[in-house]
Amino acid sequence: MTSTDAILAGKYPAKAHARRVAEYLRQHGGLGEGSDGVIYLEAQKTRLHEDTDTELPFRQRRPFYYLSGCLLPDAALTYHFNADELTLYIPPLDPDAVVWSGLPLSPEEAEKQYDVDRVRFTTDVNAALGELAGKTGDKGVLFAIKEQVSEGISFAPFTNSDIGSTLRAAIEETRVVKDDYEIALIRKANEITNLAHRAVLRAARTASNERELEAAFIGTCIAHGARQMAYHPIVASGTSSATLHYVSNDQPLVDPETQERKLNLLLDAGGEYRAYAADVTRTFPLSGKFTPRSRAIYDLVLQMQLECLDMIKEGVQWEDVHVHAHRVAICGLLKLGILRSGSEDELLEKRISTAFFPHGLGHYLGLDTHDTGGHANYQDPDPMFRYLRVRGKLPAGSVITVEPGVYFCRFIIEPFLKDPAKAKYIDQSVLDEYWSVGGVRIEDNVVITKDGHENLTTAPKVAEEVQALVGESV
Ligand code: GLY
Ligand code: MN
Ligand code: MN
Repeated sequence: MTSTDAILAGKYPAKAHARRVAEYLRQHGGLGEGSDGVIYLEAQKTRLHEDTDTELPFRQRRPFYYLSGCLLPDAALTYHFNADELTLYIPPLDPDAVVWSGLPLSPEEAEKQYDVDRVRFTTDVNAALGELAGKTGDKGVLFAIKEQVSEGISFAPFTNSDIGSTLRAAIEETRVVKDDYEIALIRKANEITNLAHRAVLRAARTASNERELEAAFIGTCIAHGARQMAYHPIVASGTSSATLHYVSNDQPLVDPETQERKLNLLLDAGGEYRAYAADVTRTFPLSGKFTPRSRAIYDLVLQMQLECLDMIKEGVQWEDVHVHAHRVAICGLLKLGILRSGSEDELLEKRISTAFFPHGLGHYLGLDTHDTGGHANYQDPDPMFRYLRVRGKLPAGSVITVEPGVYFCRFIIEPFLKDPAKAKYIDQSVLDEYWSVGGVRIEDNVVITKDGHENLTTAPKVAEEVQALVGESV
């Protein structure tokens, strides 16, 4: 058993999460001296496709999961602060459903499986809320998430309640720093994702359409225990790789006009393991060998990533790391002759590199692919920071993606070419040689530590290794 599997053989630390959220609410939730609190959270409901009796794919609500570790639909939980008591409510047996779905989890089984103090049925929720209101008295505050409370649930017995956004915000902030169990889940999601990325590399040279490679990725994830994707995979061949979140995944790998094999494939895909995400991008040549221009851009993006990784440790200002990626990009693009007529500082100040690297360097990762607590400012007037999903200093224990890219996207670059004040920094004749490269992105997932970081991503990224793996397929 690996150390990751040994950690994951234990229970998801729901109780510790409940305590941390309660502590946050005590400090920031307006609770006075000697006060008490109760958290109420609901699981996602079983939902049907419109006009059918077929179930929609299920995705557990993250706030509920964080305090329960439970992937059952239609469940609920309460946490009583002063008693330090976490109770899970599971749906009772429905004889009509057993015929189709088998027996549901029993309370005894649920107690063994989840890190909770008590398990009751969801039919007891209102009675339990009444009991909790009696125990907490005048000093008790009920916290719930407004949009996630079912009809028929009554908080009337509580003198005080906060059914707005306070609880959601407390959970979102608490989720930023991960514990060892959560890091093991993200590591496991990465281990499976690594196998799936390798399966795509092996299939790449002989595949004829993007969808075969998507199938290789998803099939490998499912076979190794990641039934869900953390997000819709991006399987972008040729110039489609310049579209940041390309979704079609159905194009031939041979250019229909020239009958030549397209240059590169950008694969941005990650499995989800017990609700935790991996988010990994690799870019590789479909022929097994980078062209010189593709290789130059690949090496530049890898240099951006490696230099940024070197800067990462507890307390680093994420904006500084992001700006450094831009500086490396500017120096590299100047060297290639794509940029010209200005110093590194001038090009940075004029924001010219945002034409080639338009997105943020990375985002927190956890229960969501774009995880909570990053405090992005999508209204930032500065284009360099508008799409940066994390602002401020990185705490130890947070998990972040490091995903620089360089893209040759006409939609983004052409406005720069039409503005004389910006166009003078771009050599169009050199640029014209690079459109076919499309886009290159390299994305890893790292844990921030006191002195540096730990990289959880093991998918290959050294150019020679990547080329060899594609070449091995024949
Ligand atoms: N896969 C989405 C992203 O990298 O943000
Ligand atoms: Mn990402
Ligand atoms: Mn990604």
